[in-house]
Amino acid sequence: MNFLGVDLGTSSVKVIIMNEEGQVICSVSKDYDVSYPKVGWAEQNPEDWWTATRDGIREIVNNSKVETVSIKGIGFSGQMHGLVLLDKEGEVLRPAILWCDQRTQEECDYLNKEIGQEKISFYTGNMALTGFTAPKLLWVKKHEEEIFHKIAHVLLPKDYIRYKLTGEFATDISDASGMLMLDVKNRKWSKEMLELLQIEEEVLPKVFESWEVTGKLTRDAAKNTGLSEDTVVVGGAGDQAAGAVGCGVVKSGILSASLGTSGVIFASSDKYEVDKENRLHSFCHSNGKWHQMGVMLSAASCLKWWIEDINKNTEEMAFEKLLEEASLSPAGSRGVIFLPYLMGERTPYSDPNAKGVFFGLNITNKREDMTRAVLEGVCFGLRDSLEILKDLKVPIEAVRVSGGGSKSLLWRQILADILGVKVQVINSKEGPAYGAAILAAVGCGRYITVDEACEKLIKVNESVEPIAENVEKYNGYYKIYNSLYRALKDSFKEISELQ
Ligand code: XUL
Repeated sequence: MNFLGVDLGTSSVKVIIMNEEGQVICSVSKDYDVSYPKVGWAEQNPEDWWTATRDGIREIVNNSKVETVSIKGIGFSGQMHGLVLLDKEGEVLRPAILWCDQRTQEECDYLNKEIGQEKISFYTGNMALTGFTAPKLLWVKKHEEEIFHKIAHVLLPKDYIRYKLTGEFATDISDASGMLMLDVKNRKWSKEMLELLQIEEEVLPKVFESWEVTGKLTRDAAKNTGLSEDTVVVGGAGDQAAGAVGCGVVKSGILSASLGTSGVIFASSDKYEVDKENRLHSFCHSNGKWHQMGVMLSAASCLKWWIEDINKNTEEMAFEKLLEEASLSPAGSRGVIFLPYLMGERTPYSDPNAKGVFFGLNITNKREDMTRAVLEGVCFGLRDSLEILKDLKVPIEAVRVSGGGSKSLLWRQILADILGVKVQVINSKEGPAYGAAILAAVGCGRYITVDEACEKLIKVNESVEPIAENVEKYNGYYKIYNSLYRALKDSFKEISELQ
């Protein structure tokens, strides 16, 4: 038996084949673009996701040379919260509005202030945030009324791929949690929230647990991908829940930290828990339980921006070279602090106007200090979420790191030093795609539960301990980092209004 894991990310789709022993035997990745039609807006064409995924599956099936009938199931991991709208013929009505898009502040103010944060949180476990799906629907209703009236199906990004593969309109419970329409506590759509939003339940996909089978491939999809019509497709998960499964974060005590396009601190929990102020997201986990997480909108994307867009460094080893250079700068980057708010920020400020900042520059600073400050700034942002978890008395023994940024030992050490917690690297490098394949394996009966699969498959390969001297130094820098947002908040707003 083999299983496919499909991770539909923001910059690319990654497809892996995992065998029944849990080994990844082949991996393929296909890129696509994000368009930023206005400052703070981010959109993608769902057809581009489908083309890339279809081609990726076809290529991996050819490259791996496994018998297609041996591929029993497909699991997804998907960029969360994106709004995909289809008409009654199943055609895409407008470009998808992505998780990092910030256009919905007015809609969020209406939900949190006029309707009331307490009520919204009682119905859904969360407050309205600009990235979430429901405020985007309200935005389309107000600004694109003609499109709004044609809506027959509302889907999340990975669920559009499921529709193209199986013809089914379905989603999974962890991804559905980020739509602000799910009753997270009771794991079903919230009738009260749908009534409040005036959304009919029929337009929403059917909700499944992440390992449950949602359908089989259509004849067309089998022909297009080279897979067998008997391949089943399981619910899958939002990328953070899938990533957590992919690194074995399914019990309390071990957290996951993702250094991907977004930056996330994720804690699994056996019961449903909500912070009174909704500082963290409270979502369903993909193992039948729940989780809390804090999400930064720009993490590894800050480094990509710094290296490729600002330094115009696009040669093959650009990242390795600049990171090597950054290791010459000491902890604290010789006084330079970077605020990583290049797309505004979600946790802890929920502020679409927040901006990136280099602070503390003097004439002796070099590029190496600025590169290191970028790495540190992202880790300070993750510490903001860790501090909330500490405040909520969530047990914290270790953090398992994943995402593109986790490949750098320098970044892993900085993370351990800034969080003051041991940082672990596990045996699989595939992150959310691996979690997606595990969910497929559970759905096909290879493992009884997600927790059992994680216990059997995930091992810790490396552990980075915090260096006491750096921890102390960073505690001082963190205080300054923290005060900078407060000092600049109004100026961020003013400068946004001038643009
Ligand atoms: C999670 C979130 C991001 C996106 C993109 O809430 O917004 O992790 O899923 O990766």
